[in-house]
Amino acid sequence: MMMLETPIVIVNFKTYPEATGENAVKLARLILEAGKDHGVSVAVAPQLADIYRVACRVKIPVLAQHVDPVKPGRNTGWITPESVKAAGAVGTLINHAEHKISIDQIASVVARANEIGLSTVACAADIEESREIAKLGPEMIAVEPPELIGTGVSVSKAKPEVVTRSVGAVKEANSKVKVVCGAGITTGDDVARALELGAEGVLLASGIVCAQDQRAAIVDIIRGMLKG
Ligand code: G3P
Repeated sequence: MMMLETPIVIVNFKTYPEATGENAVKLARLILEAGKDHGVSVAVAPQLADIYRVACRVKIPVLAQHVDPVKPGRNTGWITPESVKAAGAVGTLINHAEHKISIDQIASVVARANEIGLSTVACAADIEESREIAKLGPEMIAVEPPELIGTGVSVSKAKPEVVTRSVGAVKEANSKVKVVCGAGITTGDDVARALELGAEGVLLASGIVCAQDQRAAIVDIIRGMLKG
């Protein structure tokens, strides 16, 4: 199975218009170029409807934002891990703060994704949730305090202890699980700080997607990866 390379910058496109449809392709290209120029691993998580178009046209690892733990067959309207893989995704986010699922469902999605070789980036709100999810063996955990999401106030500066302690809790529960952090990350400095705290990358959205100049924003974030 293809693993996501770390340290990594993962950009979640959420449902922002600036990263929907053709805009998703344009932004994925900018992120790919910036990553290549600086030798930094990158990935994007566009909306479901944009996975195929981004994966076909941009050579960047694509993640789904969510999949359901259902098997192919009689499950109208649900999203199978197989379908996103067939669309070109290499992995999926799980349990994002904006799309929470139960711990049992997280376990099922991780198991289903593992069965078919889909990378798993499971989100956790705090240290405890990070620890619990680590026991399920996802490839990566993204710790994101929900109250900082979309605020421009970086977790790495406002709540550094959440990052360090989540890294500790995850490694103690399962040393193979990688840890990234997110919420409010906007500048290269926020990223460098996250790496110093032990994160193996960042998951971010608004700081790049909603930036006046997306290219400048992504380059700043990528440069932060080199400082950390
Ligand atoms: O998945 C990324 C996320 O929830 C953080 O969002 O806008 O604070 O970077 P943002």
